[in-house]
Amino acid sequence: MPSLNDIRSTFTDFFARNDHRVVESSPLVPRNDPTLMFTNSGMVQFKNSFTGVETRDYKRATTAQKCVRAGGKHNDLDNVGYTARHHTFFEMLGNFSFGDYFKEQAIAFAWELLTKDFGLDKNKLLVTVYHTDDEAANFWKKIAGLPEHKIIRIASDDNFWRMGPTGPCGPCTEIFYDHGEHIWGGPPGSAEEDGDRFIEIWNNVFMQNEQFADGSLRPLEMQSIDTGMGLERIGALLQGKHDNYDTDLMRSLIEASAHATSADPDGPGKMHHRVIADHLRSTSFLIADGVMPSNEGRGYVLRRIMRRAMRHAHMLGAQDPVMHKLVPTLVRQMGAAYPELGRAQSMIEETLRLEESRFRTTLDRGLKLLDDELERIPEGGDLPGPAAFKLYDTYGFPLDLTQDALREKGRGVDVQGFETAMDEQRKKARAAWVGSGEATDANIWFELAQDKGVTEFLGYDTETAEGEVLALVRDGAQIGDAATGTNVQVMVNQTPFYAESGGQVGDTGFIRTATGLVEVTDTKKTAGVFIHLGTVIEGSILRGQAAKLEVSHARRASIQANHSVTHLLHEALRRALGEHVAQRGSLNAPERLRFDFSHSQGMTAAEIGTVEAEVNAFVRQNTAVDTRIMTPDDARALGAQALFGEKYGDEVRVVSMGQLDGSGKGSDGRTYSLELCGGTHVKRTGDIGAFVLLSESASSSGVRRIEALTGQAALDHLRAQDARLSDVATALKTHAGDVLDRVKALQDERRALANEVAQLRRELAMGGKSGGPEIKEINGVKLIAQVLSGVSGKDLPALIDEMKAQIGSGAVVLIADTGAKPAVAAGVTADMTARISAVTLVKAAAEALGGKGGGGRPDMAQAGGADIALADAAIAAVHAALEA
Ligand code: ALA
Repeated sequence: MPSLNDIRSTFTDFFARNDHRVVESSPLVPRNDPTLMFTNSGMVQFKNSFTGVETRDYKRATTAQKCVRAGGKHNDLDNVGYTARHHTFFEMLGNFSFGDYFKEQAIAFAWELLTKDFGLDKNKLLVTVYHTDDEAANFWKKIAGLPEHKIIRIASDDNFWRMGPTGPCGPCTEIFYDHGEHIWGGPPGSAEEDGDRFIEIWNNVFMQNEQFADGSLRPLEMQSIDTGMGLERIGALLQGKHDNYDTDLMRSLIEASAHATSADPDGPGKMHHRVIADHLRSTSFLIADGVMPSNEGRGYVLRRIMRRAMRHAHMLGAQDPVMHKLVPTLVRQMGAAYPELGRAQSMIEETLRLEESRFRTTLDRGLKLLDDELERIPEGGDLPGPAAFKLYDTYGFPLDLTQDALREKGRGVDVQGFETAMDEQRKKARAAWVGSGEATDANIWFELAQDKGVTEFLGYDTETAEGEVLALVRDGAQIGDAATGTNVQVMVNQTPFYAESGGQVGDTGFIRTATGLVEVTDTKKTAGVFIHLGTVIEGSILRGQAAKLEVSHARRASIQANHSVTHLLHEALRRALGEHVAQRGSLNAPERLRFDFSHSQGMTAAEIGTVEAEVNAFVRQNTAVDTRIMTPDDARALGAQALFGEKYGDEVRVVSMGQLDGSGKGSDGRTYSLELCGGTHVKRTGDIGAFVLLSESASSSGVRRIEALTGQAALDHLRAQDARLSDVATALKTHAGDVLDRVKALQDERRALANEVAQLRRELAMGGKSGGPEIKEINGVKLIAQVLSGVSGKDLPALIDEMKAQIGSGAVVLIADTGAKPAVAAGVTADMTARISAVTLVKAAAEALGGKGGGGRPDMAQAGGADIALADAAIAAVHAALEA
């Protein structure tokens, strides 16, 4: 009996043999389609190849595609567990032609694979075609020899396949298997078609049209093929089972569930095991593809599925979290076909355990409330809306979980009443923010958040994505379209653009629609809405359009490098300076980073060197940067650094990087840096390239600031430094390596020359070595009184001392002709100070020079003058002072 893994390979091998490229499954979160919540069929990744927007280097492809149908047009959530063939997660096997083969070849391939490779009995197969598609009907006759009554014409949309409200579509032919008369049911199109006798196994779509939002249906330029066969269905058939949940793969999950809950897999709790097995697959694959439980959008669908599974585990009597225990079995079964599952195993287990432990605290109380409410309402009546709302709001019961719980009791929920209660709460929230005095400009974003929902951020995993233009805002008001030259703020439902927060600057890039192009110069967020600020630079863009969003890659890469290195820097500082180091602010811009931290004194050169070297060592370690979601408490318990000033919700992202042996953080002590952070980061620390610490300075009291560079900017900086050093070496006529010795030698030389010059000046001032200054004797006091040129005021005291020594006893008055305002100084030898004070002499001279004041001691005093031309008068004034 072939396993599901065998059947998957048989399918793709068959088409590979027939010149099809085997293409990997695309992620469950569609990057190229804003209208889809999850990838729901094999053709999603090829959507643009059918419409001709994208061309690939192959025209035939085959895939086994992961699909989730739990939200949007194709939603199977409500039926899972209760039926034999509904799943939230399933694998779709498909073959595709992009303008290559069409109906005839597609039918021939399908027939050959089913009847030869899979060995199905021809007589048990029958098909449907779109009622007007004679061509397809004729090929079935020609190729498969099917009689007219086994080619059923269907007029409804069942045989006109659409992926969603817009996109490529076309008539299809579905292949059915007849399980035989002993099972109740009628052929497709009959009143009994919902019975289990005739089961659809394969859909072949003839892609020839495109559906537009305005309702128009236009022919596509090329005719293509898109097919889809559920692996679980064909698997059941080939394994001789009637129920998808009896196939080998699903059975192993059911048994794991039975083991973990100690509840008989085929006993009264059978249905619960089926739900658990299904939900395990969808939740694990969604987490592996980057979806995290939340209260919005995709994250909320994931949360609903998880909580639902948990209630079913609870029904089986499980007291502790169960889902995470089943992950190893799933990875064993499916990890070879989908390696991403194995890579994300620990993250999946952790996320499931966390969600289950948290929900457990309210599940029991919620279920009790539900039972109490049911006792109060009449037999068979619906649960009132307010009660369902309370379960939602207070106990975290998604509406569908409540419905699921009631379904077993044959009860429903007053959905209208639930919606009304929900609206009431929204109104209250609205009144609260309107009354909070928020700037009026922000109000429009609060309103849009309520009307259209918050923006889903895809930028952790991708830098390009498609989104739908939900609103265009100019000057605080909505506009329907924006033409070239308009400054506009664009709101989309999902975006790869990071909005400024936590020190990381907003992304820039481009938003392109079918009719126009917007250059985005910044991204901010308000009320959960990402606001793309930009200018229309080509054509015009319209509200409601699909848009391709592209982040400027190089800029984002630099921002990420600067953000990631900030985490390494933070940890290096803590290790070098102490545990008191905490982040006080940061800026992660493309060209540089700034990091403010608490520390009371400047870092020494040695500390700076240690920190820079340690950061670079972890850059070179080049280990993967890991992100996990947990509660803030768990994160702190693990040793994560919380960012200053950030408010944390129920869940936080924990970013870890760098590895150590035992002396680090985390439960195993191996993580170097562990921080709560909502920013985007490099994939591996090596992506940072290099780290150069530019400066360390005081920012404010008790806070230091580091500025630094990474990657190319760091190298450019080093290169520029090197070029400057070379220029200096050239100017010094030496090599860079000898610059320091050369500078020291020059400094010594300069010092010697300066001494020599000073000596010569003094000698010159005193009339040269031979002559010596003229000495007069006035009133019994020897006096040297002279004007000196080429000296400054500050040279005078030394000269005075020298001259005082020369005359032995007496007074010296020197006037410096500085070229600007003259300076004057007077000195009196100690034996004479009783008779005449230097201060008296200097004052007399200064006054005559047009200056005033002057001061000092009796033996040495200085003053300034105004005009050197009055020097003779000043000397005369000194004489007069001595004569007095
Ligand atoms: N895209 C087609 C389907 O999902 C094959 O049925």
